[in-house]
Amino acid sequence: MARLVTLTAVLLVVAAEKKSGLYKVALTQIGYIQFLKYDVQLPDLQDFTFCIWVKSNNFTYPHPLFSYSRHETQRLVRSWLDPKGFVMLEVLENNVMSVPIDFVPGFWYNICQTWNNIVGQWLLHINGRLAAAGHNWKLRGAIIPRGGDVVVGQEYTDFDKGLDDGIEGEVFGFNLVSSFNKLHWLNEELVQNSFYQCAARRGSPMNNKHLLIAWASTPVRVFGGAVIKSANPTCGDF
Ligand SMILES: *[C@@H]1O[C@H](CO)[C@@H](O)[C@H](O)[C@H]1NC(C)=O
Repeated sequence: MARLVTLTAVLLVVAAEKKSGLYKVALTQIGYIQFLKYDVQLPDLQDFTFCIWVKSNNFTYPHPLFSYSRHETQRLVRSWLDPKGFVMLEVLENNVMSVPIDFVPGFWYNICQTWNNIVGQWLLHINGRLAAAGHNWKLRGAIIPRGGDVVVGQEYTDFDKGLDDGIEGEVFGFNLVSSFNKLHWLNEELVQNSFYQCAARRGSPMNNKHLLIAWASTPVRVFGGAVIKSANPTCGDF
């Protein structure tokens, strides 16, 4: 609780009404932990794909891409770039992917992670291309429960660990879709469009009614002094 109070106190920018143009968010992690927190209620999930553009300015510490948790303690999904050079994904505290990545500070990368509970398949796309895929049967049939906190830029359950991790850099175009194990093309559409048509529909480049979280329209608050900046409509040079 004390931690929450502290966080409220450091809320510096409310991004409820984002500018009508294209925007990105810059995070330094200087002073306070900085992150984006979505005002959204996700349903139970049997599968998901998210995509994000990210550029690091200093890759000394882990860069959390997608943190989905409950009560600041229960880790439902966590995805991050590890400075040892890996893209990581955990679902319900099970390691799903740990894939080497050549992630160079100063350059933008489009990263998409997919998971489903039918056969436990997972996919990693980097810059629109399939970089790795695999199966983890352990999570077959697992349901990611509804109603957690969606955060980008920080792991929302590790405040006690202080300021060590967090994205130091910029993010653009975080979008999340679920096919509810039916419409498989939704995943592929998000992956392809978020790389090749990054700026379409203001950074949410598919029919927004299919997106559970849309960069362009889902209400989000930016905490800790992270800054909303206008973005160039050029993929990989925002
Ligand atoms: C990156 O961050 C680390 C830890 O804060 C710091 O020691 C280092 O000087 C930084 N590197 C650059 C290039 O700013």
